[in-house]
Amino acid sequence: MKIRDVQFVKSAVKPDQYPEYTVPEIAFAGRSNVGKSSMINTLIQRKDLVKTSSRPGCTQLINFFLINDDLSFVDLPGYGYAKVSKKIRAAWQPMVETYLSNRPNLLGLVLIIDIRRDPQEEERNLAQWLISNHMPFLVVLTKADKLSKTQQQKRAAAISSQMNRNTSEVILFSAKTRVGREIILDEIANLITW
Ligand code: GTP
Ligand code: MG
Repeated sequence: MKIRDVQFVKSAVKPDQYPEYTVPEIAFAGRSNVGKSSMINTLIQRKDLVKTSSRPGCTQLINFFLINDDLSFVDLPGYGYAKVSKKIRAAWQPMVETYLSNRPNLLGLVLIIDIRRDPQEEERNLAQWLISNHMPFLVVLTKADKLSKTQQQKRAAAISSQMNRNTSEVILFSAKTRVGREIILDEIANLITW
């Protein structure tokens, strides 16, 4: 897939604020600070179109991006960050769950996990929900640059088994080295042509 043009469309909290377009949509989900926004920047080859931060809880709204006028990427706020206020934490789940259940053009999700961390209840619950709702998803292990090649393979084997996937079904990625970028774009292209 070649990315020619990218536009930030809008931020939203609830369904009547989502963009009205019906192009195929792919959402990026994962723990706070895992690197969702950085991954989108790497995929679209724009350094700072999507705001990123070393401070967790950076993305707090649902952000919509239109790619080539015929594909939509959605940057979701992260889950599982203990230090944001109770109010923000309480808002996350309904906001994201409502989005996942009320977006007919959502065709797939990229579930992003830090390669150095074991998946937790949140990742397992989300994967289970996606499977029950027949929503295809990619599992991407990010921040691969933080580990040696040998460690990357070990972690990929451990995490894939915890997520009940084959090792070949998880993708190694780094926003720093861009490893995995082409594979993710190809897999997204596969998801949307289903
Ligand atoms: P929230 O919006 O808070 O949920 O975070 P996020 O998942 O969007 O993470 P974000 O992209 O803002 O990145 C968080 C931090 O991790 C930033 O300091 C990034 O520079 C860093 N980061 C993201 N991806 C990578 C990566 O692949 N390698 C390395 N070394 N750092 C990364
Ligand atoms: Mg973010």
